Amino acid sequence: MAIQNGSSATRQVKVGVLGAGYWGPKLIRNFQEIPDADMAVVCDLRKDRLSHIQELYPTVRLTSSYHELLESDVEAVAIATPILTHHKLAKQALNAGKHVLVEKPLTANSEEAEDLVQTAERNGLALMVGHTFEYNPAVECLRKLISSGELGRIYYLNATRVNLGIFQRDINVVWDLAPHDVSILMYILGMIPVTVSARGGAYVQPKVHDVAYLTLQFPNDVLADVRVSWLDPCKIRRITVVGSKKMVVYDDVEATEKIKIYDKGVDMPPYSDTLEEFHLSYRYGDITTPAISGVEPLRLECQHFLDCIRTGERPRSDGRDGLEVVRILEAATRSLLNGGTGERIRL
Ligand SMILES: NC(=O)c1ccc[n+]([C@@H]2O[C@H](COP(=O)([O-])OP(=O)(O)OC[C@H]3O[C@@H](n4cnc5c(N)ncnc54)[C@H](O)[C@@H]3O)[C@@H](O)[C@H]2O)c1
Repeated sequence: MAIQNGSSATRQVKVGVLGAGYWGPKLIRNFQEIPDADMAVVCDLRKDRLSHIQELYPTVRLTSSYHELLESDVEAVAIATPILTHHKLAKQALNAGKHVLVEKPLTANSEEAEDLVQTAERNGLALMVGHTFEYNPAVECLRKLISSGELGRIYYLNATRVNLGIFQRDINVVWDLAPHDVSILMYILGMIPVTVSARGGAYVQPKVHDVAYLTLQFPNDVLADVRVSWLDPCKIRRITVVGSKKMVVYDDVEATEKIKIYDKGVDMPPYSDTLEEFHLSYRYGDITTPAISGVEPLRLECQHFLDCIRTGERPRSDGRDGLEVVRILEAATRSLLNGGTGERIRL
């Protein structure tokens, strides 16, 4: 991607944040704290949200007009508005010459995502999607454990992301929570799934699924399942990776010991003459816990966005990455509505 804006010397990038609801203030705080950013303008339609931001950051310029934000001298816009608004607002920002960070998922359908990718490439601007977990040091550790071969051949993975709430009205739980797990799985495996199927239930609000079970078939016979729910008594954020040599559990709710590597496995005997001699050998080795940096993943994500603007580097979670996740969510939704059919992922 040819990003023409600026040199690689550290200079402040002037940033505007659109949307100051639940997630926007976390972006604002990070851009406010990062020395490379000038957190200049915040835009929200709601006056109460702007007042809240004014109390926290009295020097930040506030507006309820998106046009005013786009006409200002900010170089970059971070968008944290509801999903159904992402395409329209991101496209306006790209057409106004701004680099754009859009919260996950990139858009509400793949046509919109393709359009944003093309618009960013045509204009030579950075388009990044907020797949925050791709910047999580524990996820990075998981990726290295897989790519180094330490776990052996990867057999299957299980991801669980459940708790009580927050119920959404305009999107189902697949679009709300599964972008995290789908982006993590693709990032740590370095592969795109071939098919996805999904089953689920809409128990609280009619036609809005609040529970879903996704099955993703990756190349090389790697199987993954993802359980997402807004309707569970316990908060669970866990991914298990089972390999031929070792197994790993990543528990994001754990304060410090987020990754545990189990030297456990099952081996076939090299040969056996009779059925009586046939014994699988079970390995129960050490459990190790690597030290994981406690730095906030969103801080790393925001810093990466600024670095990409300055250097022209393609963001790790760029528009194409966002498009792939949206295609998988779309296929999962088709399957959900068709009773769990296996849906091929369009590349
Ligand atoms: N990366 C993560 O872990 C994470 C976590 C939570 C939410 N998110 C994402 O962040 C985005 C926002 O979610 P949220 O929970 O903060 O939503 P929210 O409803 O709490 O906040 C959205 C805000 O956007 C404002 N808004 C909407 N349209 C606008 C417009 N045209 N101009 C100006 N302001 C406008 C609303 O007034 C509201 O204050 C979603 O895409 C969501 O998926 C990401």
